[in-house]
Amino acid sequence: MSAPAPTTVRTRSQAIALAANACIAGGVVSLNRKVEPGISFVRAQGSRLWDADGNEYLDYHSAFAPHLLGHNDPEINAAVQAAMTAGWSLMGSGTTTWEVELAQAVCAAVSSLELVQITNTGSEATAHAIRLSRAFTGREHVVLTLGGYNGWHNDVARAVAPPLSAIGARVVAGEYPFLPSSAGIPAGVAKLLHVVNFNDLASMEYVLKTYPVACVLTEPALQNIGVVPPAPGYLQGLRELCSSYGAVLAFDEVKTGFRSALGGYQSIAGVRPDLSVFGKAIANGYPLGVIGGRADIMRQFDAAEPAKRVLVAGTYNAHPFTSAAAIATLKRLNREGGAVYQHLEMLGARLEAGLSAAFAEKGVPHRVSRIGSAFCAYFMDHVPVDYHDVAMHHDAAFDGRYRRALIERGIYHFPLPTKQGSISAAHTPAEIDRTIEITRDVLKAL
Ligand SMILES: Cc1ncc(COP(=O)(O)O)c(C=O)c1O
Repeated sequence: MSAPAPTTVRTRSQAIALAANACIAGGVVSLNRKVEPGISFVRAQGSRLWDADGNEYLDYHSAFAPHLLGHNDPEINAAVQAAMTAGWSLMGSGTTTWEVELAQAVCAAVSSLELVQITNTGSEATAHAIRLSRAFTGREHVVLTLGGYNGWHNDVARAVAPPLSAIGARVVAGEYPFLPSSAGIPAGVAKLLHVVNFNDLASMEYVLKTYPVACVLTEPALQNIGVVPPAPGYLQGLRELCSSYGAVLAFDEVKTGFRSALGGYQSIAGVRPDLSVFGKAIANGYPLGVIGGRADIMRQFDAAEPAKRVLVAGTYNAHPFTSAAAIATLKRLNREGGAVYQHLEMLGARLEAGLSAAFAEKGVPHRVSRIGSAFCAYFMDHVPVDYHDVAMHHDAAFDGRYRRALIERGIYHFPLPTKQGSISAAHTPAEIDRTIEITRDVLKAL
């Protein structure tokens, strides 16, 4: 592997960024991609990325996690090509065998899914989860988790990592202000949105008691501020609270789903949500989202009374290419008794142990938090329990320097502190060892 030298040449990347700034509002098509160094990637294969200047990187970003099997996987591409040559079209009338096969495969994988609907993105699926919950319960309030991300639409667009000065210290049985991550969210919508810390059942109960809550929407393990696992009993407690206060429990498994286990993180936790949302790894990088769960809630999509019916629509929903990619991905994940997950766990454990040893040798306070192939090195002395813990104790400045130094040595770890790292099934033990070796070099220089 030809790692770029510490003073990497990025003149072509810079020229592409300049051209983008001249014609794309904001210069990027998803604000989350606006980071330094600005690199224009032109090619990817397996575990590797190449930028416009020919620099090669070992990838742990995975484009925010979808490429569970690796980039540009030949088997998934072959399934898409087969759909292409089989006389594909959107059809746009009735149903297709592609979407039926996909829905059957998803329901077979995740036991809480009695019925599903198929969208193009995770954001569309979380929007449906909230609207369905409101229609089902006749209530309007929604509870979200601090430090979580559930997409870009009005009902969920709060700041993922707000400054503590804006939200204040940890509350005891209380809530935090909804700080929008976007202009243009109507005040009337924002008033319905309540934010509590992850792993805080007392605050969750306070909000459920205080407001008529339609839905609690949360990632079952926070993976947009690294990897914050649920405390023992937290998800079970959430389940009980939602059941006793009549709120829908919706797990956002857009990141955890299919990456942590075929049955979703819920299968690891042993907790059955009412609704679940999937995306990302389900189609290994092709754009697809799924919302599913209890049949009585999902049937709101088909309520006999028009006034009670929840609209689901989309020209591109269950597009044949993305459906074919998802069907092929699920087949692969099911193969050989879950061999993909065993491989990912082996790689993850190797990386966790190697990074921990490298940090310990240099006396860097750290905890490597990991769920299967998702990992995050926190530079603090314990695995955080919530957003406040991360904001107060993680050495974000060191994390930023560490990630940028890795990038200059050919390891692409997204250059934002605490952004979760993702290993793919295309990574090899030798690449993990190389990553650990480069980490050691980087730590010497920091
Ligand atoms: C947990 C979670 N939910 C929802 C979304 C939104 O998914 P999409 O970007 O496909 O709209 C994301 C995207 O990063 C996510 O991480």
